Amino acid sequence: MSERERTFVMVKPDGVQRGLIGEIVSRFEDRGLKLVGGKFMRIDRDLAEEHYGEHADKPFFEGLVEFITSGPVFAMVWEGADATRQVRSMVGETDPAESPAGTIRGDLGLDLGRNVIHASDHEDPGSNEREIDLFFDDEELIDYDRVDEGWLY
Ligand code: TYD
Ligand code: MG
Repeated sequence: MSERERTFVMVKPDGVQRGLIGEIVSRFEDRGLKLVGGKFMRIDRDLAEEHYGEHADKPFFEGLVEFITSGPVFAMVWEGADATRQVRSMVGETDPAESPAGTIRGDLGLDLGRNVIHASDHEDPGSNEREIDLFFDDEELIDYDRVDEGWLY
């Protein structure tokens, strides 16, 4: 079995405004991932610039920071086997228009700049832990057993 790990996920302002938090949380719950942290919050400019620091030189950076700070987001930490890669496969491609049906972006979005959800990148090892540390204090992450874990693993 792949190693259990934690990964960072966030419903972006468009997903919050469109009422998609529940739909998105349900998909991860149904898959068998375990929610260990969740926070409804507003991102300030400093946090946005740090979170998206890898894109600071890109032409879309300013618009991205404006967008992600434009309204509340729902930040989460999910735990499970190979969680970062599994979550990314459920999220789809960066561009919703290129995302297959069945993925979150492929089912719920159409526009690259309004792609509903952020998730840590499995192709950027350590991004999951970096992003969790950026958004959550240790005591905000809850250790517990999910009753169905014995059936899932
Ligand atoms: P990126 O990290 O490449 O995508 P992902 O969210 O799939 O990890 O880019 C971060 C966000 O920046 C992306 O979700 C949407 C936005 N973005 C644009 O607006 N235009 C672009 O050309 C790209 C590549 C990303
Ligand atoms: Mg990324």
